[in-house]
Amino acid sequence: MDFLDNIVLPQSSEHMVLLRYLLGLTSVLLIPYLSALFGMLGYSLFYGRKGKKDENPVYLRFAKELVSIITLNKSMAVALGVVPFVSAIFCYAQLLHLSDAQSVIGYLTASFIFFIISLLMIYSYRHSLHIKDLFAAVSDGNQLDEYTKNEVREYKNKANVITGKAGIWGFIFLIISTYLFIAAIQLASDSFALETQPSFFGVIFSLNAISYYLFFTAVSFALSSAIIIYYYFRPSTEEKYQSADFNNYVKKISLRNGLVFTILLPALIVLNLIFKPGIALTTSLFATLLLSLFLIMIISNMFYTMIKASEVKYGSSILLMFVILFIFVIAKDQMAFSSATKLQFQKLTQNYTEYENNLKAELGIDIAPISGEDIYNGRCIACHQFDQKLVGPPYKEVLPKYDGKMDQLIDFILNPVKVNPEYPAMPNQGLKPNEAKAVAEYLIQTYRK
Ligand code: HEC
Repeated sequence: MDFLDNIVLPQSSEHMVLLRYLLGLTSVLLIPYLSALFGMLGYSLFYGRKGKKDENPVYLRFAKELVSIITLNKSMAVALGVVPFVSAIFCYAQLLHLSDAQSVIGYLTASFIFFIISLLMIYSYRHSLHIKDLFAAVSDGNQLDEYTKNEVREYKNKANVITGKAGIWGFIFLIISTYLFIAAIQLASDSFALETQPSFFGVIFSLNAISYYLFFTAVSFALSSAIIIYYYFRPSTEEKYQSADFNNYVKKISLRNGLVFTILLPALIVLNLIFKPGIALTTSLFATLLLSLFLIMIISNMFYTMIKASEVKYGSSILLMFVILFIFVIAKDQMAFSSATKLQFQKLTQNYTEYENNLKAELGIDIAPISGEDIYNGRCIACHQFDQKLVGPPYKEVLPKYDGKMDQLIDFILNPVKVNPEYPAMPNQGLKPNEAKAVAEYLIQTYRK
């Protein structure tokens, strides 16, 4: 993706921290959305097929409603899917700029294209399901003559074919898209641990990506079960869902599916951990992992209690737990990414400094080395003299305790804390670490003289 690399501007380290937060935020929107889309569509296709085979209208209705829930309106797909996806690609392009991991951007872009195709298909699947029912309703009405009836039947069959195909293809493209996405973000942190960049097959068939994808699949179906339970049994549900038969089916199926897929999660998390490169394993990563396992335990317990009592009282709490679980899992990935890209981070900061200096040289701004004296004269002198009390204490009184403790002095300048009750607190001067060091050295030297 050279073209993306070319439009990337060098970023200061503050900007890169911001980019990381942005990446975390977009992931918190995008990944649960992809997961819910995947799970709901998978269930819809499964129960649609089952309904056709058993000629069971309950399953058919369930299948139709599932895809309608997740495709509620188009702005949802844009706000939770398309926009976060594009911003995630740009964040990665910035953060991986100048690294060997450029192929990550390529995989992400491919994933995005498959995602768009898949969305188009899923929406036509949804519409054709509705149209099919419409035709069925028309041909059931007996006022039609023979010719029109045939015509309606023909359209109904056509809609049938479209439905089947659009749904399946939508799902296939979604699988490709999500798989590429996961392989790409795994590669983003792995590639810094690897000596050489893996080939296409090395990326696609990496155990890290495969095990992560298994986790993604299971969590998607578990999350979707929670969404279904919440959706059908939320307090404000309208009368139309109150057919007891249908409700019982939905309840039974979803609680069972939810429990089964949730129970699978811990094993899949551990499996993925085995295939993670060592560089990504940090203490904070293990801490988030433990918290996730704890959450999964609570979720399974909730599913289990509901099955036993044949009730759906925890619908909204379970959904909330899943949201938190997703935040943990994403935080864990982001941590792995940051610890793997520490060196890359430094390289980019370096690159930024060079870029800044070149730019200054071009513009004729001279870049004199940082001088402690200048900083003192510019920033401190208003409040401090060496031998006279101004707003702040005279330096000759406060510096002795810092003589030989340069680090503490630098710390104080970077982060002033309240010391002497006779003075107001010193406001933070917003210096950069190297500026604080220069002024601290200047103060100590001058004070010694
Ligand atoms: C707006 C006024 C103000 C400016 C500007 C200011 N200071 Fe201070 N400084 C204070 C005050 C007030 C205190 C006393 C704070 C206290 O005792 O809690 C203080 C305390 C200090 C101390 C003593 C800390 C201690 O442990 O007792 C040092 C060292 C110091 N300033 C360094 C600096 C340096 C270096 C700069 C310039 C980069 C600077 N100050 C700029 C107001 C200022």
